[in-house]
Amino acid sequence: MEGWQIRETFLRFFEERGHRRVPSASLIPPPESGLLLTNAGMNQFIPYFLGHAPAPYDRATSVQKCFRTNDIENVGRTDRHLTLFEMLGNFSFGDYFKRESCGWGLELVTEGFGIDPGRLWVSVYETDDETIDIWLDLGIPRERIVRRGKDDNYWWTHAAGPAGPCSEIFVDRGSRYGDEGGPAVDEDRYLEIWNHVFMQDEVDERAERRGELPAKNIDTGSSLERVATVLQDKATIFETDIFQPLFAVAESLAGVRQGEDERTDISLRVMAEHGRATTFLIADGVQPSNEGRGYVLRRMLRRLVSHARRLGIERPVIEELAEATIATFGGAYPELVENRAYVLQVATSEEERFGGTLRQGMALFEDAIGRASGTLPGEVVFKLHDTFGFPKELTRELVEDAG
Ligand code: ALA
Repeated sequence: MEGWQIRETFLRFFEERGHRRVPSASLIPPPESGLLLTNAGMNQFIPYFLGHAPAPYDRATSVQKCFRTNDIENVGRTDRHLTLFEMLGNFSFGDYFKRESCGWGLELVTEGFGIDPGRLWVSVYETDDETIDIWLDLGIPRERIVRRGKDDNYWWTHAAGPAGPCSEIFVDRGSRYGDEGGPAVDEDRYLEIWNHVFMQDEVDERAERRGELPAKNIDTGSSLERVATVLQDKATIFETDIFQPLFAVAESLAGVRQGEDERTDISLRVMAEHGRATTFLIADGVQPSNEGRGYVLRRMLRRLVSHARRLGIERPVIEELAEATIATFGGAYPELVENRAYVLQVATSEEERFGGTLRQGMALFEDAIGRASGTLPGEVVFKLHDTFGFPKELTRELVEDAG
């Protein structure tokens, strides 16, 4: 199944079971969410879970663009880290609960996506015996059900709000991806593809439970990119059809191909992933700046440009990456097409601004690294930032790469 078929199969499965198809919300969340960027499919439904507004439907399904900023510097260095991803989800607002959610989850994974049930494992919150019984009834053998604690199996947005214990579905990708023993042993081999959250609690900004929600709800999330990795039998997220148009652009700009060299692979991945993610951010109205979400965007655009230079590309790259993103994802996200001219203008002017100082900044950096003994002086980091526009996280990465 290609990416678009996975999206459509998911949405249609839940529409057939009484869910309203709801479009993705913006990556800029409402201020009352307390979030910098939309980080889950459930964000747009927070007022319904909290009981602050009546839900206009009891059941919903969506494919939500999501953004997680905690791993920007890992993007490119691993097989699976992304900033932007698409989250497939189904939601119940005080309607159905655990049994239906787990049952439909299993049905879609095995019958809709065709994954062999013998490859599935599930996790449950450590004290949630009810969900263990549900999975047993559904035919998951006891030895492939694992209990895990609050760090793994209790979900919240990372801001004050709705939360709950959760149950995840994993696919065993086989011995070439790691050791036996289930998801507690190896999350590369046992890839999590779906999280079912039993939204019943209200928590504070430290995830401490403050009380019960007015109703018991369901919030699930499944990464489209991970499902595609499994269904297309690829070793990494980056080899799925979802990323291929972006890699085609990066490879042709760089004149190198994926899989030839570890260092150039990192840079190609950064170009593809950041090119896609920054296009989505700008289309939703984020502008490069020195704080908040604007800084996330600036940092990523500049990281992208510096990796393009590492690949020896001297000409601008962002326009072609943005065009490939719009062409690939514009069907599912029409705002990319509607805002095309604006995206290109914002992205290329940031590229020009940084491109103009990057060469001099790198010369300063190389010189300082040559003379540094184990530590790059803070003054250099400051000057790189202040005069040459190097985000400090970018300098940190350059320092690490220089050993
Ligand atoms: N909100 C849940 C998650 O993001 C489904 O994993």
